[in-house]
Amino acid sequence: MRFAIVGAGSIGAVHARLLSDLEDELVAVVDTDLERAEQLAAQYGARAYPDAASAYSEVDAVSICLPSALHADAAIEALHAGKHVLVEKPVDITLAAADRLIAAQRRTGLTVSVVSQRRFQEPATRIKQAVADGALGRITSGIVESAFYRPQSYYDGDGWRGTLALDGGGALMNQGIHALDLLVWMLGRPVGVSAQTGRLAHDNIEVEDVAAATITFESGAIGLLLASTAAYPGRPVRLSIHGDRGTAVMDDDRLVALTGADDLGAQSSPRAAHLEQYRDFVAAVAEGRAPAIGLADGRRSLATVLAVYESARLGRPVELQEV
Ligand SMILES: NC(=O)c1ccc[n+]([C@@H]2O[C@H](COP(=O)([O-])OP(=O)(O)OC[C@H]3O[C@@H](n4cnc5c(N)ncnc54)[C@H](O)[C@@H]3O)[C@@H](O)[C@H]2O)c1
Repeated sequence: MRFAIVGAGSIGAVHARLLSDLEDELVAVVDTDLERAEQLAAQYGARAYPDAASAYSEVDAVSICLPSALHADAAIEALHAGKHVLVEKPVDITLAAADRLIAAQRRTGLTVSVVSQRRFQEPATRIKQAVADGALGRITSGIVESAFYRPQSYYDGDGWRGTLALDGGGALMNQGIHALDLLVWMLGRPVGVSAQTGRLAHDNIEVEDVAAATITFESGAIGLLLASTAAYPGRPVRLSIHGDRGTAVMDDDRLVALTGADDLGAQSSPRAAHLEQYRDFVAAVAEGRAPAIGLADGRRSLATVLAVYESARLGRPVELQEV
């Protein structure tokens, strides 16, 4: 399959490397900063373009690696040009944008997958399987911790990070959504949220650098979430799932606890998992099946993030259907 990467920034460069590990070909790199597109394209023998529309005739699929608030419109444009789409997380920053993209996907019937590579990490897939098999019994609670650190320079470097208009949120919308998405994947449909957010260790950003929430799920299970970019020096993501017959824990990309299992230690990096998501996307297109992570998954995690923000803003619990 021939790919265009739209957005030649930090994750665009990761996508280019991932594609070079696959049989698929990177033929076009698009960035409004043409010099940036040219630099990345040159490394992989691709062509650079200042806008996506000029690249469409060359490609079968488009990977959207733009600032978050530009995701849905770029993806819709690509779908209308007949291209399959792999879109970076979050799917976009509003549910209205996500819904426009969902409608465009339905109209065109093309494949769209939202990146959430941690769902492909072996420790996470082992835990998911244990939950699905009932090996942990009835699931009662889950905890995710995304206690990262980002220096002020991270937010100052590019015009969009830490802005409401383009990032749409901070430690949760941008970083913690990966961990939150794992929690939602394991525990099912979230129905209510009670949350607090703060901006405690950064200046000149419009978004939170700490978010904490309890989330209730349709099953009755209760989730706990911490997302921070103000937790120096930063820790790897930690996920714990508890049931009435067992517990499973992923920490530092390793399976460190799984009741009943005697082969702990399974490990896979987020990068290897990102590659697995590309493989799934390409196979989904080839086989005409749905990708493992679709727009409904991206929308559910986004809705949960927005419910956290709404609860923090209102100072009371909110139902997911309120957002
Ligand atoms: N899956 C992951 O682990 C992961 C990691 C990092 C970032 N991301 C996501 O990837 C997205 C991009 O993040 P980043 O860190 O690469 O940002 P970045 O600022 O490094 O790169 C964004 C690029 O988009 C370009 N751009 C902006 N507007 C454009 C337009 N209209 N058309 C073409 N190019 C345009 C910019 O010039 C820049 O090169 C974000 O949504 C972020 O959430 C995902």
